[in-house]
Amino acid sequence: MARTALVTGGSRGIGAAISKALKAKGYTVAATYAGNDEAAAKFTRETGIKTYKWNVADYDSSKEGIAQVEADLGPIDIVVANAGITRDAPFHKMTPQQWKEVIDTNLTGVFNTVHPVWPGMRERGFGRIVVISSINGQKGQFAQVNYAATKAGDLGIVKSLAQEGAAKGITANAVCPGYIATEMVMAVPEKVRESIIGMIPAGRLGEPEEIARCVTFLVSDDASFINGSTISANGAQFFV
Ligand code: CAA
Repeated sequence: MARTALVTGGSRGIGAAISKALKAKGYTVAATYAGNDEAAAKFTRETGIKTYKWNVADYDSSKEGIAQVEADLGPIDIVVANAGITRDAPFHKMTPQQWKEVIDTNLTGVFNTVHPVWPGMRERGFGRIVVISSINGQKGQFAQVNYAATKAGDLGIVKSLAQEGAAKGITANAVCPGYIATEMVMAVPEKVRESIIGMIPAGRLGEPEEIARCVTFLVSDDASFINGSTISANGAQFFV
């Protein structure tokens, strides 16, 4: 039977590319979204991938949503924790609200997504967790104290989960995309974006599909001994 994959934030941007790539590899895929009903309905129409609406920042909603996915599609074998937001501002202007929204969604959201599926993975002796972190969690970024903190936190999460899951057949890894051509990066002021592209030796933004291919590899049986690792895909912009 096909394995079931859950992709949070899976109907737009990098998440949509991941959902589609996993479906193309034969997985049964559930994609979550937070608010954009229209985009989700269009995504389902075009791809046949079921979408589910909940706020990853809320533990109870995540738990209920995951129970619904499992009732519809079977036990979740693969989690791609991709949902994320930005609330960029220089630190002296960053509000506690901007801090909290990003922490709740990007960091606590990973806990809320993985925690409900973890006991089932342990019982079944198989699981694949991939957390979508960021180059900015590795190097920090002007105006992203909040976002960089969450993305660095992702790396701590996967390194710890890897140690807990290894004996139970569960792997946990991170992908750190560089600047990828998505709405999130397009929202950066054009002049700033141009200067960012100037810092990428590849001379271009990445494509969402280039991140999706990292994920399909990490969740495959071929990657069974890769656990607690980080794949950086950033066009040579930054090395750890
Ligand atoms: N490094 C150093 N200084 C910088 C800077 C940088 N990268 N960016 C801006 N500055 C400076 C400006 O030159 C300006 O300096 P002066 O005051 O001396 O003129 C100051 O910082 C900015 O002041 P503003 O009052 O204009 O700032 P603002 O409140 O309007 O905020 C901003 C503007 C939010 C910082 C905007 O420039 C921005 O969005 N920058 C992009 C931040 C970024 O790269 N975010 C990544 C988004 S993509 C993503 O997150 C995906 C991923 O994982 C890679």
